[in-house]
Amino acid sequence: MDEKQGSKQREKVVLAYSGGLDTSVLVRWLIEERGLDVVALTVDLGQPGEMEEVRRKALATGAVDAKVVDAREMFVADYLTPAIWANALYQGEYPLATALARPLIAKLQVEEAHRQGASYIAHGCTGKGNDQVRFEVATAALDPSLSVIAPMREWKMTREEEIDYARKWGIPVPVTVESPYSVDENLWGRSCECGVLEDPWREPPEDAYEWTTSPEKAPDEPLYLEIRFEGGLPVGMDGEPMDLLDITRRLNDVGGEHGVGRIDVIEDRLVGIKSREIYEAPAAVLIIKAHRDLEQLTLTREALAGKRPLEQRVSEMAYEALWFSPLNRAIEAFNRTLQERVTGVVRLKLYKGRATVVGRRSPNSLYDLGLATYDAADAFDHNAARGFIELWGLPLKVWARSEKEAGGGTDE
Ligand code: ARG
Repeated sequence: MDEKQGSKQREKVVLAYSGGLDTSVLVRWLIEERGLDVVALTVDLGQPGEMEEVRRKALATGAVDAKVVDAREMFVADYLTPAIWANALYQGEYPLATALARPLIAKLQVEEAHRQGASYIAHGCTGKGNDQVRFEVATAALDPSLSVIAPMREWKMTREEEIDYARKWGIPVPVTVESPYSVDENLWGRSCECGVLEDPWREPPEDAYEWTTSPEKAPDEPLYLEIRFEGGLPVGMDGEPMDLLDITRRLNDVGGEHGVGRIDVIEDRLVGIKSREIYEAPAAVLIIKAHRDLEQLTLTREALAGKRPLEQRVSEMAYEALWFSPLNRAIEAFNRTLQERVTGVVRLKLYKGRATVVGRRSPNSLYDLGLATYDAADAFDHNAARGFIELWGLPLKVWARSEKEAGGGTDE
């Protein structure tokens, strides 16, 4: 090390790098405009693309260091697991693939910043979306001393200017015809917006979908599958033990073939904008549907009544950049306790875009045939029902009597 000779050592920034045009231009911009040394961090969350190629591109573009982290297991263990326990669907529909990935990427950036002695984090999100909020709030929650740079919010470059800038600095510009959509993908789902999708009246064209067959073209024969859960998490499929990562990939494939998991919504962004989004998330849809059903079989009515509203809170916190909040951690602990009972097998039927639960069983089943049946085996005490009704209806009976008396004109 011969730092004394050179000028003052440059400060470092850890950039969340995808290898696309935006983040590549960002590498150069951070060097030129901010005078920083750029460490590119690429996180493998099961999205398509050759990660080693992305890493090389970062170095070729001027990064002083480029790292690829395979975070798929971490994503499954620390993000998808609590999301499944919470049956997390934002506004009842979106399984949150993009939203769940952001705090994890931020966490890895913060860790890398600590290793590198960097004082900055950078991301390529625009100023209109949720992701900027997620990156920055997560970073603040993990290390409030780090500063975040969001160049896309600062610079005024159009797409054309970006391409010129890239050419000027020898950054490879994609030669393939550009997708008319803005897409984000990981193993929990694919998010797609922009282009013709911005007209909320217009049916999404087929080319907006990549993971799923259109229901019309899906096989004419239904597919049955069985997911085995232990402690509220999938541990096998069709009688074979499998880990959650493999189950997710497998369900994305077979669900996609049957046209399951297409979601078309008008969604409320955190920054106040309503937007139209298309999601494809076959595995997430199937797993959550099956999991929720198994909870109905294995948890008490009280537990479910307590849990369901918290599920919505988790979905909101995931969406609204509060993943690393104390409430989210506390709800995760709450869910962990209840999930001990959520063990069993759920049978699903996939047919032309629809997934239906058609069977479920569990060693912890609270379903008692003797109590439920209308057959001769009936074990339910019908007499007990009479007393129950008497007491259950007592408050209303008292109220009705009082109403009647008041209505009798005896006031004052
Ligand atoms: N609206 C979704 C969210 O905020 C997904 C955004 C993903 N980005 C994209 N380019 N489609 O979680």
